[in-house]
Amino acid sequence: MKKIIYIYGAPASGKTTFAKRFASAADARAVDLDACIEETAGRDIPSIFAEEGEEAFRELESSVLRRVSDEASRRAGTTVVSLGGGALLRGASRDFAESAGDVICLDTPGEKELARRLSAVGAAARPLGNKAKERAEHYASFPRRIAAFFDLPGSLVAVGRSIAGTFLEGGKVVADANVAAVWRGLVPAPVAVVPSGEEHKTPHTVASLWSAFAAAGISRRDVVSAVGGGVTGDLAGFAAATWMRGIDWMNFPTTLLSMVDASTGGKTGCDLPEGKNLAGAFHSPRLVAIDADFLSTLDAGTLAQGRAEMIKHEIIGGLDAVIGAACLDPAGIAANLKVKIDIVREDPFEKTGRRALLNCGHTVAHAIEKITRYGVSHGEAVAAGCVEEARLAEREGLASKGWADSLAERFAAENLPVSLPAGVAFDDLVPLMAGDKKRDGSAVSFALPCAWGDVRLVKFDLSDGRCRIVREG
Ligand SMILES: NC(=O)c1ccc[n+]([C@@H]2O[C@H](COP(=O)([O-])OP(=O)(O)OC[C@H]3O[C@@H](n4cnc5c(N)ncnc54)[C@H](O)[C@@H]3O)[C@@H](O)[C@H]2O)c1
Ligand SMILES: [Zn+2]
Repeated sequence: MKKIIYIYGAPASGKTTFAKRFASAADARAVDLDACIEETAGRDIPSIFAEEGEEAFRELESSVLRRVSDEASRRAGTTVVSLGGGALLRGASRDFAESAGDVICLDTPGEKELARRLSAVGAAARPLGNKAKERAEHYASFPRRIAAFFDLPGSLVAVGRSIAGTFLEGGKVVADANVAAVWRGLVPAPVAVVPSGEEHKTPHTVASLWSAFAAAGISRRDVVSAVGGGVTGDLAGFAAATWMRGIDWMNFPTTLLSMVDASTGGKTGCDLPEGKNLAGAFHSPRLVAIDADFLSTLDAGTLAQGRAEMIKHEIIGGLDAVIGAACLDPAGIAANLKVKIDIVREDPFEKTGRRALLNCGHTVAHAIEKITRYGVSHGEAVAAGCVEEARLAEREGLASKGWADSLAERFAAENLPVSLPAGVAFDDLVPLMAGDKKRDGSAVSFALPCAWGDVRLVKFDLSDGRCRIVREG
């Protein structure tokens, strides 16, 4: 972690809340600059403004900024300083902060959300709202940005741009081999490198991470940072969950799929010859830092894998309105990820059945993967699986005519397949689905896509190679 991290942004952008929560996730000291100013002046900020004017306030603010920063640079560990909304308006203050540490700027929320937050402030609201607008260009000029954050039990998820370097500095990194090579300037020299590819998501690789932890002297107090896609996150998280009976970790997902899906929800683990993800543990990272910059080096095929899961979230959350190129910017990623987060919040350990909604399209998808011996990638299988399951919903009268075709168009627009692989018929998949882990007696649960925003848990009887809906009651 960088030694001094300044959290900045427009009034009501959530700076103070984020800075406090982030400091606790990063095990850092939190300092609120406005509180230090009030303590120094022995008065509150509105009184300083009223009695001495803005110029005098800025003078005081800049001297307290320097004092607080000097103190922070002499202390061990990281200090997170939350700044007032005008603290870096003066060029000299900005230059000082940017040389003493890293400035991370929170995006100003949209007009509606800003109005909602400001109405809580009461009478002071209007001038603050105007300031956010007047200074929009100033705030937008800071390169390190956070568009949204989610406060989960034991885990803070921040979605932004150009933030990974700040959080990774000096960290104990486990990196994907490709990411370690492509992002060498940004990612510190890793403690361990995970070879790229699902075939390496094995107990053997987990054991190699343990050995690397031993060689690096990683103790119970250390925090490990995973930098890579879902394979790296699952493996490094599992190694952290089991190293010395569990140490803390942070996750820096670098693929679209791991940003919107794999990095949150707390699942870690590895594959076994007997099946995927069979060995594992729930072990949430303290911090998930989603940095959209990483997407710039992904190839089209890997990006499409993530798009498939994003469209699955769009179906569950009814997000068809946000479709478009913009969905790959941090705000779009955050809106998509929120669908998974809302579900995981309700069912963190997959106990209530709510989390089963995330299996939308996956009962058929897993059967496609098995029948092709994983010759079809997971994302492609999810696309075809969602469309097949939508056809099933239509057949059972749970979806209106044309729904499956419209969903197929949506996936096809991302160059994803929308029909079963050549030579495979739906009936061929039935015995494989009957053996699926979601099996309950002879009935198998599907999370059927029925419309945008309407996924239903429906049981099918798959005995005798047929697929019949089980009508309750
Ligand atoms: N834990 C969970 O809840 C959860 C959820 C969904 C999926 N998963 C797991 O996630 C895995 C799939 O994740 P994935 O799709 O991220 O695959 P991955 O981790 O294998 O990464 C895909 C490829 O992209 C490369 N790569 C990663 N980031 C890159 C970057 N920024 N630039 C260039 N290349 C980059 C990797 O080297 C790899 O070759 C599966 O093992 C799946 O089981 C886990
Ligand atoms: Zn999936």
